[in-house]
Amino acid sequence: MPPAPFRPLRFPSDFWWGTASAGHQVEGGNLHSNWWAFEQQGLVNDGSRSGRACDYWNRYPEDHSLMRALGLNSLRLGVEWARIEPAEGRVDASALSHYRSLLEDARANGLRVCLTLHHWVLPLWLAERGGWEWGGALGAWEAHVRRVVGAVGDLVDLFVTLNEPMVPVLAGYLAAYHPPCRRAPLAAARVFEALLRAHAIAYRVVHAERPRGPGGTTALVGFASAYQHVEPYHEGGLLRLAEAPIARLVARGSFGAWDRSVLTGRVAAPFGLGRRIPGLAGSADFVGVNYYMRWSAKLALPRFSNVKSAGSACPPGTELTEMGWQVYPPGLFHVLDLVRRNFGKPIWITENGCADSGDEKRRRYLAAHLAQVHRAIAAGCDVRGFLHWTFTDNFEWREGFEKRFGIIAMDPNDPELRRTPKQSAFLLRDVARANALDADAVARHAPGALDPWPLAPGLRIGA
Ligand code: FCB
Repeated sequence: MPPAPFRPLRFPSDFWWGTASAGHQVEGGNLHSNWWAFEQQGLVNDGSRSGRACDYWNRYPEDHSLMRALGLNSLRLGVEWARIEPAEGRVDASALSHYRSLLEDARANGLRVCLTLHHWVLPLWLAERGGWEWGGALGAWEAHVRRVVGAVGDLVDLFVTLNEPMVPVLAGYLAAYHPPCRRAPLAAARVFEALLRAHAIAYRVVHAERPRGPGGTTALVGFASAYQHVEPYHEGGLLRLAEAPIARLVARGSFGAWDRSVLTGRVAAPFGLGRRIPGLAGSADFVGVNYYMRWSAKLALPRFSNVKSAGSACPPGTELTEMGWQVYPPGLFHVLDLVRRNFGKPIWITENGCADSGDEKRRRYLAAHLAQVHRAIAAGCDVRGFLHWTFTDNFEWREGFEKRFGIIAMDPNDPELRRTPKQSAFLLRDVARANALDADAVARHAPGALDPWPLAPGLRIGA
């Protein structure tokens, strides 16, 4: 058989190329939030605090112009509720107008905007009243969403209502790893239901308040979930058969129950008994896929050392990131295909990236995952964009500043907080400019990165 032809891996026209961040991780000074309070108690693993973070709050013009110089055409970012409503019912209008200036600046730099309305962090006053378990939380949330959409909605193309809603449920209420650090299954179920309601409310409010986006387009509203590729640890045999139901259960708990609830409009097991939630069924114009890793299900008691990796077993020879997460690019292909089959809606990759204090692994990770996005598109997935996690190295929650996910180096101890592009930034630049991943870019930035994994049928990349 003659070798498959070499062709660049081309992406659809108008594809979104950009990076993703969250307010608390980059802005700095999110003083009135529950995470800020958590950090002051010294509970972050490396003892660090978000502090001024990347000072994105003030340095956004520099960051946006750097994004533009790198040929990026879009940006995912979040607003912080605790800044906008630092005390119950007290709205800080200057915070809203600051967000407006920031988003105007993004647009002036040619960046399309995906805005996350909630990325885990709550105002401290609300957390002290019981967070999402408090009876008044949903009313306060609805008012907050209305405010944000009124203030900046015309500058936003895509709204993510909630980022990874299962993380607060699992890490906050079962694993006691994120605030409020509880192990309370009944509370977890209540929070799960409250977050479904919060999502449905935001979906309705955004559409009601602002039916048109920039350029007269209709705003799309969805959620972003953490999807892992979950599969049995063993490659075959009886053990694989025995592990298959565990894998299904883990996937169900991690993202499946949420998806099922949104699809059916009813609170799915194991977090609920099918109670109907008004406005929930089908409340996703698109799905935001955050993909980082494979999980391998093994017949063993799970260790919950790090909720994000769920203490999963790791097949020998598997590469890990500095988070201890399995590198498995084809998992992104499988996840995209699963989301396509379940939802049949457009998909944005709202996060994908790699903790690496060097940058070589990140480049290989990026190139290999982009090839899987291309493969999924060739197989019929309507993927509209890729937002790399993240732009600058930033505050990685419980892992503090130690874990570096950025394509732009930034040292939190540098008084100037200088931004220095890493080589991975140039890889993303070359891909964004060409709207394709070609052999030349792979050879220059990530040689051999695609070799171990399947590509779209009939393609090969390389010399
Ligand atoms: C995701 C979070 C994001 C960041 C990355 C590394 O789970 O949404 O804020 O922490 O992991």
